[in-house]
Amino acid sequence: MTFDHRVKLSGSRAAPTSFLRQIVVQLDDHNHFHGFGTSDRFAVRGERAAFHSAGACMAEVFGQELLAKKNAIITGGGSGINLAIARRFAAHGASVALIGRTKEKLDSAADEIRRTGGTASGHPADVRDYDALAAAIKSAREIHGEIDLVVCGAAGNFPAPALGMSANGFKAVVDIDLLGTFNTCRAVFEHLRRPGASIINISAMQAFTPTPMQAHVCAAKAGVDMLTKCLAIEWGPDGVRVNSIAPGAVDDTEGMKRLAPTPEIQKQLTRSIPLRRFATKDEIADLALFLCSDAAKFITGAVVVCDGGQSLAGLGVNMMAAMQPRS
Ligand code: COA
Repeated sequence: MTFDHRVKLSGSRAAPTSFLRQIVVQLDDHNHFHGFGTSDRFAVRGERAAFHSAGACMAEVFGQELLAKKNAIITGGGSGINLAIARRFAAHGASVALIGRTKEKLDSAADEIRRTGGTASGHPADVRDYDALAAAIKSAREIHGEIDLVVCGAAGNFPAPALGMSANGFKAVVDIDLLGTFNTCRAVFEHLRRPGASIINISAMQAFTPTPMQAHVCAAKAGVDMLTKCLAIEWGPDGVRVNSIAPGAVDDTEGMKRLAPTPEIQKQLTRSIPLRRFATKDEIADLALFLCSDAAKFITGAVVVCDGGQSLAGLGVNMMAAMQPRS
């Protein structure tokens, strides 16, 4: 008789295609080692691990072909977090259509994905312009087929006090972030594979953390999260899931360049994060992959925070940072 001992590993660099997989160690009655392997590629003496018969396990869900035959649309997909998501989706077998304002950025991003063996195309459009956006989505559908995955990631930001921005400045951000998200969801719905499609709206901590110099972004992202919840209710019966991802500080992004432009500000910000570092773009992409996968098939209307604990307790975290200024 043999026993399976399973150890969960998360996000290992050694296993970049797998967000979460299990190592299975097989021991006999005398605790003698009989073999080990990752559970998705697992074969001990030619046998599949017994738990496979009990249904899908996490490792199967995050296998390399996780998104095979799926088609994705990603707004803002030419750079930053959204490009990281596009790369991750493509690496797991999805074909990706990138929508954004700048054709050159989209072309270069799509080229890069194709060079690494993925399927990608670029479709220039401003998410604020409904007709142009709808046309871009239609052309993506014509190339790739029915749409399974949508990431509404196009966003704008600049730091400014409320009295330092015009009505048009406030509107520019609300239009890109909130109206742009609505436009994308509204225009893509008729092209979605239903049931089964999954939409992810990229929110931010500003949605629930009042932040100075960010009134426009706070208002817009709070709206995005409420839109997520309303659409989850309205489109759930069609088999369409709608969730938000709320990242905290993410390294090497346009947003952080604008909000934390100096090493001193970055250091201060890091002190307010319990995990004491910024997220990587790949970590946000991992979360998007999870939310789009069958592992999340009963999750809808959720706002999933990925911020290293920064939003847990404003005062508490600030006090902790003041008391432990070592890192
Ligand atoms: N402070 C105050 N107002 C500002 C500003 C700043 N730093 N930057 C832009 N604005 C105002 C402009 O003055 C303008 O208002 P006005 O017409 O009354 O003068 C308004 O915002 C629109 O600016 P404009 O540059 O014409 O808009 P745009 O649509 O080309 O750009 C932004 C949109 C402003 C959001 C721009 O920052 C952008 O394109 N960002 C995209 C990239 C990005 O922000 N990425 C980070 C995502 S987290």
